[in-house]
Amino acid sequence: MNSSKFLYNLLIISILLCFNKALSQDKSEFQNVKNTVIAHRGMPRHAPEETAPSYWLAKKLGADYLEADLQRTKDSVLICLHDSNLKRTTNILELFPDRADSPVSDFTLDELKQLDAGSWFNKENPDKARDAFKGQRILTLEELIEIAESGGQVTGLYLETKKPELFPGIEKDLYKLLEQKSWVNNPNKKLILQTFSTKSLVLLNQYFADTPKCMLLWNDEEFLTGGATPDKLKQALAFGKANGATIVGPSFKGEMNDYYNLMKKWMVKMYHKEGYLIHPYTFDTKKDEKEYVPLSDGQFTNRTDLLLDYYKRSHETVNAILNELGYE
Ligand code: G3P
Ligand code: CA
Repeated sequence: MNSSKFLYNLLIISILLCFNKALSQDKSEFQNVKNTVIAHRGMPRHAPEETAPSYWLAKKLGADYLEADLQRTKDSVLICLHDSNLKRTTNILELFPDRADSPVSDFTLDELKQLDAGSWFNKENPDKARDAFKGQRILTLEELIEIAESGGQVTGLYLETKKPELFPGIEKDLYKLLEQKSWVNNPNKKLILQTFSTKSLVLLNQYFADTPKCMLLWNDEEFLTGGATPDKLKQALAFGKANGATIVGPSFKGEMNDYYNLMKKWMVKMYHKEGYLIHPYTFDTKKDEKEYVPLSDGQFTNRTDLLLDYYKRSHETVNAILNELGYE
């Protein structure tokens, strides 16, 4: 082999080695978000959603991420709550009947902390009711962070800006708090951000450029207004990519929900083609798992225990954990 050919081959081998290294770095970055068990609102099938027992239970079972919906109080505190008012998951009708339809932003944290966010669960789930759930309080994000960081192992956080149009500037507030708590770009504290809102995604990407972000999808909203078509979905995915999303969060029609199915074959093909990881919501049954886990990379689940079983990851029983935690 002459020397120029040798040098040429050396150059090609070096390029291939660099390419391979870059690929494996990419893969290791994605390890945080692959085959992941995302505890949707904690463990809402067995404890009042987004309260301390719900998150402690999910954490002790071994969830990789605790999922929460973030809203902001009148006095600017970030709290965890899914609904746009407090009627379903608190006793607001007893304490503040005239303000039962008001959004979270009309209440101070002190007012919200007076509400009982657990008794509704006991009434709706008599077979799973526990005295200790009575009087559970709405959690602040700071309190959720304490749970994630406690107990020897830091559990990841998967945080959604919920209805961000009601809370202008919530992305900056979130950044300030997470930065102060050392959750931004910290390899020991796994963080993923999620939103349905294109405006919020843009802002999240400004503050959290290097944090994995999930673009949630819901039929008939934003890009998918009028129903998902290949063109509309393609536009949505292009927008997400241009604004820092590497994960897509589609709904699917599960056994216990009636969501629109955004996990149709052609859709899954498109998500992959555009380079996204897929974290669908929400897994409630073994049938859901059998059908959709093989098509996805991580799963939002209301049944962390079931999903861990699917992955053959051992865990204690729900009752044992709740009793150990003192929720009797
Ligand atoms: O965040 C994933 C999934 O939670 C989106 O739906 O309405 O339960 O927040 P939702
Ligand atoms: Ca959510």
